[in-house]
Amino acid sequence: MKVLVATEKPFAIAAVEGIREVVEAEGHELMLLEKYTDKAQLLSAVEDADAMIIRSDKVDEEVFNAAKKLQIVVRAGAGYDNIDLNAATSHHVVAENTPGQNSNAVAELVFGLLVMAVRNFYNGKSGTELKGKRLGILAFGNVGRNVARIAKGFDMEVYAYDTYCPNDVIEAAGVHACKSQNELFENCDIVSLHIPSTPETIKSIGSGLVGQLPKGGILINTARKEVINEEELLELLANRTDLKFITDIMPDGDTEFKKFEGRYFSTPKKMGAQTAEANINAGIAAAKQIISYFTDGCTKYQVNK
Ligand code: 3PG
Repeated sequence: MKVLVATEKPFAIAAVEGIREVVEAEGHELMLLEKYTDKAQLLSAVEDADAMIIRSDKVDEEVFNAAKKLQIVVRAGAGYDNIDLNAATSHHVVAENTPGQNSNAVAELVFGLLVMAVRNFYNGKSGTELKGKRLGILAFGNVGRNVARIAKGFDMEVYAYDTYCPNDVIEAAGVHACKSQNELFENCDIVSLHIPSTPETIKSIGSGLVGQLPKGGILINTARKEVINEEELLELLANRTDLKFITDIMPDGDTEFKKFEGRYFSTPKKMGAQTAEANINAGIAAAKQIISYFTDGCTKYQVNK
């Protein structure tokens, strides 16, 4: 079988070596398409592939149409909003993700960005500390739980809200469970977003919620840009000169957000899962899931059921 790794944002070299070992040990062939700049390159590379490993690469109807032999596509990572799941199903392709494999990397970046934000982006002026501050975690999945773990090391007060995670699970992790998103934003100095991009969450983070942050509040997004209502947030930042917005996913309105110098920061390219460890974990997990699918028909992590 031919396994294609198609990554516009490539894995660390060690991750590709690990994927190659897993794939070739079972007698399959690895094909690499890294740093491609044109969708046509993906459409041509996928023609021969029986399986494909991707990151945030968009796999839509056109890609599935070109992928005549494709049986399985694995998103090496958590969020699979880049795969057209209906198209996968109608083309009889199994779509999977690798939950939890890169969550520590994303959680660590949250604190890298937060320390920078509370120290005024290292401009030489006196900042504040994270210790004793109230951190709100919106969605208590794999990343949210790692954020809670690290926040305790900073001696922060940790709160969380998750529509789907029972409160007793949140409380068992030593975290205050909020009853609503409103309660989370009202009661926390900093809110960190860990919600996926779904029809329910798209544009759900706007002035109604963020405007409830207390004076000096910080919104940090390491999830998806689509969850932010950019128009409302731009207006809010103009009216509330105490608020900061820090993001690992550059908003469409980056140029307008940049007007709020000293209160806005975006990484140039999504960096959350961009560590050797996360790439190795997620990439090798993806390769192993493909092998188990070919060997035993295992579809444990299928997301297009
Ligand atoms: C994920 O959903 O796993 C993260 O957002 C990482 O995405 P990336 O592989 O594009 O860095």
